[in-house]
Amino acid sequence: MIITIDGPAAAGKGTLCSYLSKHYKLAYFDTGMVYRAVGLDMVLQNLNLQDEEIAEKIAKSLTFEKMMMLSKHPDFRSDIGGSAASKVSALPKVRAALLKMQQDFALNPVFADGTPANGVIYDGRDTGTVVCPNADIKLFVTASSEVRAKRRFDEFIAKGINTTYDKVLEDMIARDKRDQERASAPLKPADDAIVFDTSDMTAQEEINKAIEIIEAKR
Ligand code: DC
Repeated sequence: MIITIDGPAAAGKGTLCSYLSKHYKLAYFDTGMVYRAVGLDMVLQNLNLQDEEIAEKIAKSLTFEKMMMLSKHPDFRSDIGGSAASKVSALPKVRAALLKMQQDFALNPVFADGTPANGVIYDGRDTGTVVCPNADIKLFVTASSEVRAKRRFDEFIAKGINTTYDKVLEDMIARDKRDQERASAPLKPADDAIVFDTSDMTAQEEINKAIEIIEAKR
């Protein structure tokens, strides 16, 4: 079984995917990680994030191992990593270079410890439209910018990252705009995706709703 869950930053995709991957024994691929890895690698090397040729080279040389190594860097999940990811993800050559790595994961899905999985749950922006257009179930999860900024701000504070709500909201709006307006694979629901808004839902309500949708579709 392949499930795709797309939507803007901090809409609740991560919590949902972690739960569903255990519930349905699916390997979890957080596709934002590939863009964060390329973006952060470029930031650490002081490279210009708008330079498509260089960004493509970095994307082509990305391996799973290198991505996992970069994911341990403190800025991988910070605003710096998120904003760099959003900038490089707007470059068509970067997206093309990272597509196969994301698609290949579904050919032989395994958990982190190497045990085989029943399929894959993809988390991202274009996994239902581009990465896996033939997925069995597609969800598009969203919430208002203010709710998402509050969730992300709370996460940052819990991790000891020094920021303000206003800065997080401003970054979130800028990132949404870039993700939605880019020419290549813009953030939008697939035609056959089920869209739901989690602004007024608790994490548990969101999980219950997703399971209800998945069970009805299976
Ligand atoms: O989900 P995230 O916050 O880790 O994603 C970081 C950025 O990567 C996001 O702003 C846009 C980009 N991204 C993308 O373009 N396509 C995906 N499938 C996943 C993420």
